[in-house]
Amino acid sequence: MTEAEARETAKTLMLMAASELAVGRLYMACAKADDDRREVWERIAGAERNHAKWIEAMAGMLLARNGEGFRIGRKFEPKAVEAFTDEVRKNEADVQTGAIKGRVMYMIARGIEAALLEDRFFEFVATEDEEYKKLVTRIVTETRQHQTLMQAWVKAAGA
Ligand SMILES: [Fe+2]
Repeated sequence: MTEAEARETAKTLMLMAASELAVGRLYMACAKADDDRREVWERIAGAERNHAKWIEAMAGMLLARNGEGFRIGRKFEPKAVEAFTDEVRKNEADVQTGAIKGRVMYMIARGIEAALLEDRFFEFVATEDEEYKKLVTRIVTETRQHQTLMQAWVKAAGA
């Protein structure tokens, strides 16, 4: 991609990093609201913070190489990332007030992880760069694990 595209794409990646941080904060609120599963929530909140760091590193790679070796994978709307982050922040506020709890809270977390996978947030850059691809794979793998975990919690909380 061109240098200008690399700058634009890096900006979108930074928005994605911000959304991962918002998810991390949501999960810290869930940790406070869900004493039985506090430690697990804290652990996955930590994973989201790592994802944010890795995505920032990915943006850094794009910029450092001026887009060389990277292509636009799929068209991506930065506004969609911002809307996602806004929604996550609303969820955080609702968890803090107790408006969202228990099974609904698990369903929301499951939905967030699913949205990250389904919207393929991590696939809008195409590259053969091994380092970049390794980070994407780690994020996708952990996101899938979170989704599976939330699915189990929804089930355990009953229909
Ligand atoms: Fe996650």
